[in-house]
Amino acid sequence: MTGFRELVFSGVQPTGNLHLGNYLGAITRFVALQERYDCIYCVVDLHAITAELHQPDLPSQTREVTAAFLASGIDPRRNIVFNQSQVSGHAELAWIFNCVARIGWMNRMTQFKDKAGKDRENASLGLLAYPSLMAADILLYRATHVPVGEDQKQHLELTRDIAQKFNNDFQPAIAARADSVPAGDEAGSRQFFPLTEPLIGGPAARVMSLRDGSKKMSKSDPSDFSRINLTDDRDAIAGKIRKAKTDPEPLPSEEAGLAGRPEADNLVGIYAALAGTDKAAVLGDFGGAQFSAFKAALVDLAVDVLGPIGAEMNRLQADPGHIDAVLADGAGRARAIADETMRAVKDIVGMVRS
Ligand code: TRP
Repeated sequence: MTGFRELVFSGVQPTGNLHLGNYLGAITRFVALQERYDCIYCVVDLHAITAELHQPDLPSQTREVTAAFLASGIDPRRNIVFNQSQVSGHAELAWIFNCVARIGWMNRMTQFKDKAGKDRENASLGLLAYPSLMAADILLYRATHVPVGEDQKQHLELTRDIAQKFNNDFQPAIAARADSVPAGDEAGSRQFFPLTEPLIGGPAARVMSLRDGSKKMSKSDPSDFSRINLTDDRDAIAGKIRKAKTDPEPLPSEEAGLAGRPEADNLVGIYAALAGTDKAAVLGDFGGAQFSAFKAALVDLAVDVLGPIGAEMNRLQADPGHIDAVLADGAGRARAIADETMRAVKDIVGMVRS
């Protein structure tokens, strides 16, 4: 147990076309965590421009993610909901972390290698520094827990490496401060930044493509049939589930029978996550059934769960002024915490301020 106050931070990029993978993999977990923790949920627009700066739809995409948060049940009064660029501390702390992190650390990030592809020389400098900005997001609030998918684990490890190096490099200054926390080691050192833990897991941390059970459901898949968008209507959801790839066997009665059947595994996992149960329970009900019957039940369930969320998202997005007011309020409350951290960081680093 750390001496830091428990706080959850997570971020979602405003990339457009939110889908079932975003909902089950991230947003439903955010909703559940607000019962146990103080939470800060951020629409990370500064991250969104690392791939492409010129994005005419950035405002509507930022509001879409915010609408999805609210429509899914995240309470913006109990938690802090805002977009990253409104709190300048993110960019400011990221700059300092750019001077903590080493180029070698960044070059090892698998997401950078994937996103930069073959033409690394032509990737933006922001894409390389992306993980340093993510560390700044989290540590600006000295957050102790971050719900993320498996694909972000490496960035969380890097966040801990940055926190640790900062804590070590400035140990004398940090040890002299009342706002630092005992590290609990034999040397008796103190920490300014926590070593943040990932919260990985959940019922459907990984939702796969409906067309290929070995690929993650993704907004960049050229086929819209590969994903269920949060604002799809009943006909669209039904059509996509009916066309979802399967295999010729009926459903197994036990989870072990899903091995080597990625599409069956994915659909059963989606059903379980939407129903708030587990795969074993779903197979208890549907073991031996043909896919046609199972898919019909899955359509009904998906429409029951997603229908109201999509409708509420559309209602909220019709009133951008309201969404912007929610973001402004969240940004104000985030700034209060962020400013305090930045004052401390500047003192620790030795930047004169008046
Ligand atoms: N990199 C995360 C993703 O693509 C988004 C993100 C940015 C994030 N900053 C964060 C997630 C801070 C958790 C905490 O999913």
